[in-house]
Amino acid sequence: MRIAVFVSGGGTNLQAVLDAQKDKYLSSETVLVVSNNEKAFGLERARAFGIHTLVSKDDVEILEECQKYNVDIIVLAGYLRKVGTVILEGYKDRIINIHPSLLPAHGGPGMYGIHVHEDVWENKEKTSGATVHFVTDVIDGGKILLQEEISVSECESPEEIAQKVLIVEHRLLPRALKKLEDEGI
Ligand code: GRF
Repeated sequence: MRIAVFVSGGGTNLQAVLDAQKDKYLSSETVLVVSNNEKAFGLERARAFGIHTLVSKDDVEILEECQKYNVDIIVLAGYLRKVGTVILEGYKDRIINIHPSLLPAHGGPGMYGIHVHEDVWENKEKTSGATVHFVTDVIDGGKILLQEEISVSECESPEEIAQKVLIVEHRLLPRALKKLEDEGI
């Protein structure tokens, strides 16, 4: 598969995908990295791998770039903008997102980054984890592709939960892409 990864920040999930491709765990190729944030370190990670990047908030421009690069699947990895209708329709059922909780718990509008883990912490959850799901017009509402659950009962802060969950994300996203490679999207 030809993959486009959309990032807004550090891009550690992007890095996990790039490393999985380099290690030949994935046969897919990341051909495009898109960000709404010109300062996103994820863009540097892409450039280090010689991958084309686009900084844009224009969904038509983004869609056209994905089509130009013959992208098969869009992966949202720490992407903080809502994907617009034009991209959702252009890539119907071919957009996945990684979310740092066990959806449907701790998902939906406003549930991103540390806010997710603060919600887990305030609810005194014994476990949390990460979810890879298909993207629809309902935030965090699409069909779940893969989940991994871990214990967080010994964590002493939302930040500690976030650190443990991020490690899960870095192995879950490549596993989810491998599942799509093996079973078809
Ligand atoms: C991660 O927690 C991811 O689950 C969420 O954005 C955060 C940052 O990801 N979607 P990254 O380091 O930019 O990949």
